[in-house]
Amino acid sequence: MGDDSRRLVSDGGESIVDFDNKAFKPIPQSGIDLAVSAMSTGVMYRYQPKQNEQSLTAKLERSFSQYMGVKHTVGTNSCGSAMYIALNVVGVQPGDKILTNAFTFHAVPSVIHHAHAVPVLVESNREWAMDAEDLDKKASESGAKVLLMSYMRGHVPDMDAVMEVVNKHNLILIEDCAHAYATLWNGQMLGTFGEIACFSTQSSKGLSAGEGGLYITSNDEFAAKAVLYAGSYERLWAKHFDLDPEIMNRLQNQIPGYSMRMQEVTAAMLTPQIERLEKIKKTHTENWNLLHSLIDNHPNIEIPMPLPQVESFCDTMQFHLNGLSREKADQFIDLMKVEGIPMQIFGAKRNARDYRQWEYIEAHKQELGETIANIEFACDLSLQPHLTKENMHTIAQVFHDVLAYINAQ
Ligand SMILES: Cc1ncc(COP(=O)(O)O)c(C=O)c1O
Repeated sequence: MGDDSRRLVSDGGESIVDFDNKAFKPIPQSGIDLAVSAMSTGVMYRYQPKQNEQSLTAKLERSFSQYMGVKHTVGTNSCGSAMYIALNVVGVQPGDKILTNAFTFHAVPSVIHHAHAVPVLVESNREWAMDAEDLDKKASESGAKVLLMSYMRGHVPDMDAVMEVVNKHNLILIEDCAHAYATLWNGQMLGTFGEIACFSTQSSKGLSAGEGGLYITSNDEFAAKAVLYAGSYERLWAKHFDLDPEIMNRLQNQIPGYSMRMQEVTAAMLTPQIERLEKIKKTHTENWNLLHSLIDNHPNIEIPMPLPQVESFCDTMQFHLNGLSREKADQFIDLMKVEGIPMQIFGAKRNARDYRQWEYIEAHKQELGETIANIEFACDLSLQPHLTKENMHTIAQVFHDVLAYINAQ
């Protein structure tokens, strides 16, 4: 077993678990048909159809609003664009301080940087969600008025505590729900706690179209502004559903258009996916629970559980690798890759989810002890919905065998 390039469990050849395609969520046939039709008729720009009833993007926006139970959705070309628009909508000015997670993907501080604002990083707890106590402290110290909060990898903080801080400091809450589709706190959908929420439809996300974003709000003024920032000009806003003409006429030409619209082919691919979300969530949850039961008792593995109020989407699994040196933890990741199960450690190898790598912001120099301790040995595994229960058994077996091999050295 001295040769690390040899698989411990499988005997070479085909990958034992089909992980080659980490973001594997093919478009349902009806979405492919709609996309082909948009392409073959040349109707790919959302404002080409004469009316909202003929626009795939407008109809997707209406369906997503209904699904989320909010008044408005605005389709964008990415979640990053949706978040950038959100910061503009709530009036962020250059130099303003924005509270956000120290543990999230670098797209989030990048958006704050894009708005020429200054991120104030809030510590992450053992379960990788925002620490409400540190949020309270940082809100007091910084005087920030906006909180852009990520549910990174679907991890949900104590929302009662977070909302208490939001109300205490009168913060405007923008939710980054890129990883939090169909995720609930006490039966309430994440994305409905703040003034605005933003979802990603990039390939590895719950709704998957390569690229794309969805901005939601129940505030009529915030919806109107987002439509204009996304790039609606003249009276094209009339091709959206449910906008208030009085507000649109008043704001028309007051707001720049940043050309961040969703296009019809993206909307076509997404159209049949909203109703697929619950089915995918069921598969994810069953797989997650099974894998959890098979590896949770391993002495090197610590899987912090969500708070009891949380119902998760479960499309990924994270765990802390305890009792291993840095070198052995890296070896674990390398061997898992050889076995055909690619994983990463958030706090190692210049990972884009480690705030210390965000050198374009001043805050990357800070020593945020809680976050560092909680990402240093945090492993990340993607569980796409094509994986089977048998795959979970195989993954668990590989975990056990690889850890036994490393511990024996
Ligand atoms: C937590 C989080 N927020 C936001 C984004 C940005 O999404 P997009 O790629 O659609 O801009 C990502 C991207 O992966 C992300 O991981």
